[in-house]
Amino acid sequence: MPKKKHQHERKQISAAEFARRRHELTALMDENSIAIVPGGTLRHMNWDKRYRFRQDSDFFYLTGFDEPDAVFVLIPGREYGESILFCRERDAEVSRWHGDITGPERAMQLFGMDDAFPISDINDILPGLIEGRTKLYYAMGLDSEFDSQVIEWVRKINQQGHLPPGELVQLEHLLHELRLFKSAGEVELMRLAAEATCRGHCRIMAQVVPGMMEYEVEAELNHEFAMGGARWPAYPAIVGGGSNACVLHYLDNNEPLQDGDLVLVDAGGEYQNYACDLTRTFPVNGKFSETQEAIYSIVLEAQLAAIDEVKPGNNWNDPHDAAMRKLTEGLVSLGILAGDVDMLMAEEAHLPYCTKRTGHWLGMDVHDVGDYQVNGEWRVFEPGMVTTIEPGLYFTDDMVEVATRYRGIGVRIEDDVLVTKTGHEVLTSGVPKDIQAIETMMESGRAASG
Ligand code: GLY
Ligand code: MN
Ligand code: MN
Repeated sequence: MPKKKHQHERKQISAAEFARRRHELTALMDENSIAIVPGGTLRHMNWDKRYRFRQDSDFFYLTGFDEPDAVFVLIPGREYGESILFCRERDAEVSRWHGDITGPERAMQLFGMDDAFPISDINDILPGLIEGRTKLYYAMGLDSEFDSQVIEWVRKINQQGHLPPGELVQLEHLLHELRLFKSAGEVELMRLAAEATCRGHCRIMAQVVPGMMEYEVEAELNHEFAMGGARWPAYPAIVGGGSNACVLHYLDNNEPLQDGDLVLVDAGGEYQNYACDLTRTFPVNGKFSETQEAIYSIVLEAQLAAIDEVKPGNNWNDPHDAAMRKLTEGLVSLGILAGDVDMLMAEEAHLPYCTKRTGHWLGMDVHDVGDYQVNGEWRVFEPGMVTTIEPGLYFTDDMVEVATRYRGIGVRIEDDVLVTKTGHEVLTSGVPKDIQAIETMMESGRAASG
C-alpha cells in the first residue's frame, strides 16, 4: 500500500442526516409520547484522572453531540419543537482545565436542537415535559442510576397530582432497528474505518519478526489507525502469539512472538464513532508450516463459503451454517472428528474447536445493535446491514484428543461485509488472506527493512 498522507479533513455525518434520524424515530413513536435518551458520562480512572470519553452510541446517533453529561429528549408534535437537549453550561474555569464546552445556546444552532437547557435544571424541567404524555420510551436497565432518576421524575409528577405516562416502552426496539440499516453516509465512514484498519494490518504483516512483543504489534496498529483518521481503536486489540490465539478475548498482549508460531491479530479502528473489526492470522517468521497451512486453509475455506452466503434473501444463519459445514469437513479431514458430516453437524461436534458464532452486526458498536431473529425466525439480510464473518479453529494446549502437532494453534479470519442490493461487498478486502499473498507481503516487508 502507498504511504498515507497526513489527514486534514475528517468526514462526518451531516447535520441533515442527524435530523433525518430524529424524524424517522419520531415517525415510529406513538402520538402523545416522549423518549428520553441519556448520553455517556466520564469514568473515573484514579485521583483526578478520567478515562477518555466515548459517547453513548444511541445518544450520538440521534444528536451528534459528543460531550458527557447530556440528555436528549424527543417529543413528537411538541408545540415548541420536538428535539430538546440538556447539556453542561459554559464555564470559563472548567474550560481552562478541560477544554471548550458547547453550552445550551450554541447546541441549538450547532446540533439542530429546538430547545436546549442546562443539565443542572433537568430535575425542574423534565417532569413538566413528561407530564401528560401517555407513553414513555426509555432504555430501562442499562444504567441503574439513571433508571432511578427516571422513576423519580415520574413519581414527582404523580405526587403533584398530575398524570404520569401509563406505559413504559423499551426504546431500543425502535432505535436499534434504525441503526441496523446503514445509510450511504454511514457506509462511507465504515469504509474509512476499514481503510485505516487495513493499513494497520498490512503494516504489521510487513513488520512482524520473531522476538517482537505482542504489545509492540498493538502499538504499530494504533499508529496506523490514527494516521488514517481512526484515532482510537474500536475495541482493545487482541494480539495473540502461539496458544494465546486460543484465548478468544485475549487482551494481555505482553508476550514475545516466537519463531515457528502463528500470531492472531484481531484489531480495528473507529472512524467518527463507526467501527471496523478485522482479524488476520499469520506466521511470525513469514512462512506457514505444513500443519499451520492445513488448519489455516480450512478456516479460509469456511470464511469464503460464509461470505458467499451474505446476500439479500438469505438469512443471518446461512453464513454460519456454511462455515460450520466447511469446518466440520475440515476437522474430519484432519482426523480430529470422525463420521458422517451431516450427523456431526446435527450434533454440533465442531463446538470444542470453534465456540464462537460466525459473525455479529457491526456499526457504531463493534457488537452492534439489531435483532438477529424476528418472530422466532432468523433475520433475513437486507441491503445496508453490515455483518462480520469470522470463523476460526482453536486447539488449546490441553486438548489431548487432538494430535500433538495441532495443539496450541488458533486461527481466526474476520472480515466486515456489507449487504448490497445484488449481494455483498467486503469492506476489509485491503489485507491479504491467501497464504501466498500473506507470505509475499511478509517477505517484501522484510526485504524493505533489510
Ligand atoms: N473483536 C471482537 C470480535 O471479533 O467479535
Ligand atoms: Mn467480530
Ligand atoms: Mn474481531
